[in-house]
Amino acid sequence: MQVTEAVQRRRAVKWFDPDHRMPDETFATLMQHALLSPTAFNIQNWRFVRVTDPAQRRAIRAAAWDQAQVEEASELLVLCFDNNAWDREPARYWRLAPQEVQDFLVPAIGEYYRDKPQVQRDEGMRSCGLVGQNLMLVAQQLGYDSCPMDGFDYAAVGDIIGLPDDHGIAFMLAIGKGVKEAWPRPGQLALDAVMVENRFG
Ligand SMILES: Cc1cc2nc3c(=O)[nH]c(=O)nc-3n(C[C@H](O)[C@H](O)[C@H](O)COP(=O)(O)O)c2cc1C
Repeated sequence: MQVTEAVQRRRAVKWFDPDHRMPDETFATLMQHALLSPTAFNIQNWRFVRVTDPAQRRAIRAAAWDQAQVEEASELLVLCFDNNAWDREPARYWRLAPQEVQDFLVPAIGEYYRDKPQVQRDEGMRSCGLVGQNLMLVAQQLGYDSCPMDGFDYAAVGDIIGLPDDHGIAFMLAIGKGVKEAWPRPGQLALDAVMVENRFG
């Protein structure tokens, strides 16, 4: 499947076959490609919580306005981020780079993020957005549908998954075999409504 076709076919699907189990090798393929997604300074600050426990799925569904896809999708990933990823042995993010690149970039990571909680959090959101889109497109190619979700109580889901204090949640992703088509695209804007040339105003 071409990337363009995956983009066109991906829709936010809300109804999944609750009996379908994603094969382990398919899940492995999905996640291996997720790990190739870009992050600033290559800090790979995303953290994926794969929710397999049915009771936990039920609890998250209750915290998500009873949205069925939370329980019925084959996979539920809570896309989290570690605000302190930049400070966790950052040399490993560049260990295979030429020495002069390591010498320049590894100290720069600390300079960029240290004592800047908003920047750390923004970076987490950026990284999760990018990896989330890759997950949805690769899932599409592998024959799966998906639904990105932020319709849930973040504090409640944080409690359920034992989110560490220095982590955040970006959104959840339900992935499975869709059993009901998404409704027609509800109202995509024309390009000229969302793009300006060079400057606003
Ligand atoms: C960050 C994010 C959060 C979303 N949260 C939910 C959600 O909680 N429940 C839901 O059914 N759809 C959710 N959606 C799906 C959007 O409603 C959907 O992507 C949008 O209407 C465009 O439709 P399409 O994805 O089928 O093209 C979410 C989408 C995004 C990107």
